[in-house]
Amino acid sequence: MNKATLLALFFLSLAWACGRMYDLPPALAPAAWTTKTIDPYPQSLTGSPDSGFYYLTGGTYLGTGIPYDLLRQKVEKDPAAFAAASNLPSTYGFAVFESAQGVQVMNGTCFSCHAGAVGGETILGLGNSRNDNQANLKTVAKLMNWQVRRKYKRDTATLASFDPFGKYFAAMAPYVQTGNPGVNPAARIAEACMRHRNPVDLTYTAEPQYPVRDYSIGSDIPALWHLQKKNALYYTAVGRGDFTKLLFQASVLGIEDSTAARAAQEKFVHIVAWIRTLEPPTYPREIDAELARRGALIFGEKCQGCHGTYGGAAETYPNKVVALDVIGTDPLYAQYAADSKIVDWYNGSWFAQSEPRSWFAPEQGYIAPPLDGIWATAPYLHNGSVPTLYELLNSHTRPTYWQRSDDSQDVDWKKMGWLYTTPGQGWGKLTYDTTLPGYSNQGHTFADTLTEAERWALVEYMKGL
Ligand code: HEC
Ligand code: HEC
Repeated sequence: MNKATLLALFFLSLAWACGRMYDLPPALAPAAWTTKTIDPYPQSLTGSPDSGFYYLTGGTYLGTGIPYDLLRQKVEKDPAAFAAASNLPSTYGFAVFESAQGVQVMNGTCFSCHAGAVGGETILGLGNSRNDNQANLKTVAKLMNWQVRRKYKRDTATLASFDPFGKYFAAMAPYVQTGNPGVNPAARIAEACMRHRNPVDLTYTAEPQYPVRDYSIGSDIPALWHLQKKNALYYTAVGRGDFTKLLFQASVLGIEDSTAARAAQEKFVHIVAWIRTLEPPTYPREIDAELARRGALIFGEKCQGCHGTYGGAAETYPNKVVALDVIGTDPLYAQYAADSKIVDWYNGSWFAQSEPRSWFAPEQGYIAPPLDGIWATAPYLHNGSVPTLYELLNSHTRPTYWQRSDDSQDVDWKKMGWLYTTPGQGWGKLTYDTTLPGYSNQGHTFADTLTEAERWALVEYMKGL
């Protein structure tokens, strides 16, 4: 092959790679960007938190999973080591339960993503920011399906207990590989699984109901204790209406049809009740009261209009979705939600068409989140691109490439967030690369004009929220 051909091939492959990489949704015209407040929707408040916790940890609502038989030995030898090797934050991350066919199966729980550790303490409801989703799951899905279907081919009860899980795992596998460590593809899981469901009865359809884009965008994981203040779910506030139905999103893998979904939704009434009882973790060290008092004044002046007020009986939270041009953070996640074909599917489906109703209403902006327990929830912004609170308040100091250590004890108690190194571009898979589409650390520059002293006062105040 001569040099020119080689060069042409090189550029072709580059174009191909970029074409794939940049299969991005279009931006809407700035005219569509507006800041707005989201009103409450009547939620069911009749659930029992204890039952909710029982369902969450027991996993029965999941319906199906991997035959426990296959994993029993490994799990029972050392459950904690099994959890760690499976990318799970603790043994709360998985559950073993009996399927409708009476077979013991295993599946991931909500805590596979919604439990995390800071300063060595496991906290239920904190996002699991150590979950690395950069692996390609396609081969795993194929092997798992092949192994189970071969081994249990004469055992119809076990096969039926695995089948929905196996099918939806295979359906999502090609779409959930993220480009950065720690970020989570839950929205993509929902998108990739739902498209293989009939919208009316939620049964499996081999033929996808809508196309999905190639680019696999991920997000940080919000703290669950915010639920009691929120009128809409998710970073983009796309999730409206009844929460019990919205929460199916990342746990749709095992649900077989709308009958099973209805049974699960009734359990979600209790799960939501449990989530509503969650309190943010208290800052475990001393807070400089005088410094924090000065910080509170700055917060009142510069921040509470979007984030609400804290402390005392009369806390307020405005549920404000801030337009992309005002917030200035990476727009891709919001654009992605607005462009996704799951929106129309969802709004025509069992979720939106039967009571209690939930629906998707994408916005060109991000919700200003509650800041309760903000000291514990690094990294910051919807894409988890900023490792400390100090850097969130000073956009010029945010690192372009950064890597945290492997130890949850490695907390930066001064800047409040994670200790990290700045290894440079292309240093390895565990480096967060803010130059990738969707992962920029730009925007939210509201504290850039403060003095250093004011900024440190604000950090001190926020430790106590
Ligand atoms: C695969 C990881 C994963 C699993 C499993 C998962 N979630 Fe989530 N969850 C996420 C991510 C990521 C988000 C943020 C998505 C977004 O905002 O766009 C989220 C958002 C949420 C929110 C919205 C919070 C807010 O402030 O808007 C709630 C509530 C929630 N999840 C509850 C649950 C429950 C209950 C379960 C189990 C039935 C569950 N999640 C399972 C990853 C997961
Ligand atoms: C105009 C509204 C607005 C103002 C003013 C504002 N914020 Fe925000 N803030 C937001 C929005 C919207 C987000 C989410 C942006 C995103 O994730 O892309 C956010 C995110 C944050 C986060 C990260 C939350 C997380 O969980 O990752 C912190 C911390 C924060 N703001 C603190 C402040 C402080 C302190 C001030 C005052 C100096 C302030 N904000 C002023 C709208 C605002």
